[in-house]
Amino acid sequence: MALSNKPYKGTRDFFPPDMRIHNAIFSSLSKVVENYGYEQYNGPMLESFDLYAAKTGEEIVNAQLYHFEDRGKRRVAVRPEMTPTLARMVSQQVQELPKPIRWFSLPNLWRYERPQRGRLREHWQLNVDLLGGDTRLADSEILSLAFNLISEFKGQEHIQIHINHRGLVNFVFQDQLGLSAEQALQVSKAVDARPKIGEAAYEKWLSDQGVNSDQAIKLEAFFKSDFTSLCENYPCEAIDDLKAIFKNLECSEAHKVLIFDPMIMRGLDYYTGLVFEIFDTSPENNRAMFGGGRYDNLIGLFGKHQLSGVGFGMGDVTLRNFLETHKLMPAIQAPIDYFVALTNKDYWSYSQQICKVLRVKGHSVYEALSDVKLANQFKQAHKLNSKFVIIVGEDEVAQKQFQLKELATGEQKTYALSELEALD
Ligand code: HAM
Repeated sequence: MALSNKPYKGTRDFFPPDMRIHNAIFSSLSKVVENYGYEQYNGPMLESFDLYAAKTGEEIVNAQLYHFEDRGKRRVAVRPEMTPTLARMVSQQVQELPKPIRWFSLPNLWRYERPQRGRLREHWQLNVDLLGGDTRLADSEILSLAFNLISEFKGQEHIQIHINHRGLVNFVFQDQLGLSAEQALQVSKAVDARPKIGEAAYEKWLSDQGVNSDQAIKLEAFFKSDFTSLCENYPCEAIDDLKAIFKNLECSEAHKVLIFDPMIMRGLDYYTGLVFEIFDTSPENNRAMFGGGRYDNLIGLFGKHQLSGVGFGMGDVTLRNFLETHKLMPAIQAPIDYFVALTNKDYWSYSQQICKVLRVKGHSVYEALSDVKLANQFKQAHKLNSKFVIIVGEDEVAQKQFQLKELATGEQKTYALSELEALD
C-alpha cells in the first residue's frame, strides 16, 4: 500500500503560494514591530518539560503538550508557546540588557488540539514582549502596537480589544467573595472554558469547587458590570491600572475598539496584571486572534532577579481567517521577473551572461532547462506569472542580442547584450 501523502492531522503543508502569503504576512508584522524598536530573537523548538509544568497551565500541560523522554532519559517537550522560552532567555542576561527590553519572535508552536476553524496542532505565532519600564505605559504601548498590527492590514474597523486585569479578578474572587486562591484559579479556568463547555458544565465546575449560590450570584453580577460601576464598587489598584490604560490610549485610535470585559481570564497561569484578547467582530471567526497580558513572576523563576513583562501572541491561523473574511489579504507580487527560454541547449552558456547581469541587478530569473517547443515554454512562463520572457535564438547569439517580450502587453523587442544593464 502506498504511503499517505497527507500531512499529519492538524498541520499544514505550505506549498509555494501558501509560503508566499505566509512570508508576506509575517514580513508586514515584523516591519511594524521593528518600527517600534523591537528586536527579533528565537529559541529551540524543544525545551525541558519542567519549563511548561511550572506556569503554562493545566490545560496545555495535561492535554496538549507533545512530550517524550529522550535517549538520556530527560523529559523533553515540543514548545506549545514561546513565553517560557523568552523568560528563560531574558533571565540569562537580565542584568546586562538595557531596559525596557523589546523583543519579538515568530515561532511555530505545537498543541495537541482537536483541529477546527482557528485551531490547529501546529501554528505560527508572532510574539511581542516588553519587559521593564513603567507598567501602565508598557501595557498601553503593547495594546496600541497590537492595534497597529491590524491597522497595517486595514482591518482596524473589524476588531475589538477586550481587556481585564488579573489583580481585579483576584480582588473580587478572593477579597470580596471569599474564595480561596485555589478556588479562584479554578473559577477563572471555568470562566475561560465557559464558551467551549456550555452553561451546565460551567455550573458543575463551580459547584465541584464548593462555590455556593450566593457567591455564584455575585460572580454573575461581576461579569455583568460595566467599568464605571466597577470603579465605584471595587476600588483597588487594578482598577487604577485599567483607568490609566484607558486614559493613556485616548490619544490612539485603539481607544475606539477598547472594551472592558470582566470575563477575559486567559488560560495561562502566569498572568498577574492586565490580560487581553483581540477578537474579530465577524461571527464567522469566534476565536481570539491575539492573547496576552502582564506577568510579574516569570523571570524570577530562573534566579533571584525579577523583571515584570507584558506581551502577546498572535496566531497565523486566526489572522489568515480574519484577512480572508474581510478581503484584506495582501496582494502578493509575482515572484518571477524574467523567464529565460531555451531554443537550443547549446545556447545555455550564452543565456548565462544575461541571467548573471539580471540577477546582479536584483531580479528573479527563471531558466528553462530543456529546449522543448517555444509555445510550451511561453505557457509555463504565463503559469509562473513571469513579467517578461527572454528569447535567444541562432541570430541573437550570432549578433550578441536577445529578444524581450512583456507578457502583459505582448510587446516584443530585440536588444543588444550591451543594453541589458539599462533595462529596468
Ligand atoms: P495564547 O492565548 O495561548 O497565548 O495564544 C495566543 C494566540 O495564538 C491565540 O489568540 C491564537 O491566535 C493563537 N493560537 C493559540 N493556539 C492555537 C492553535 N492551536 N491553533 C491556532 N492558533 C492558535 C500565548 O501563547 C502566550 N504565550 C502569549 C503571550 C506572549 N503572552 C505574553 N507574551
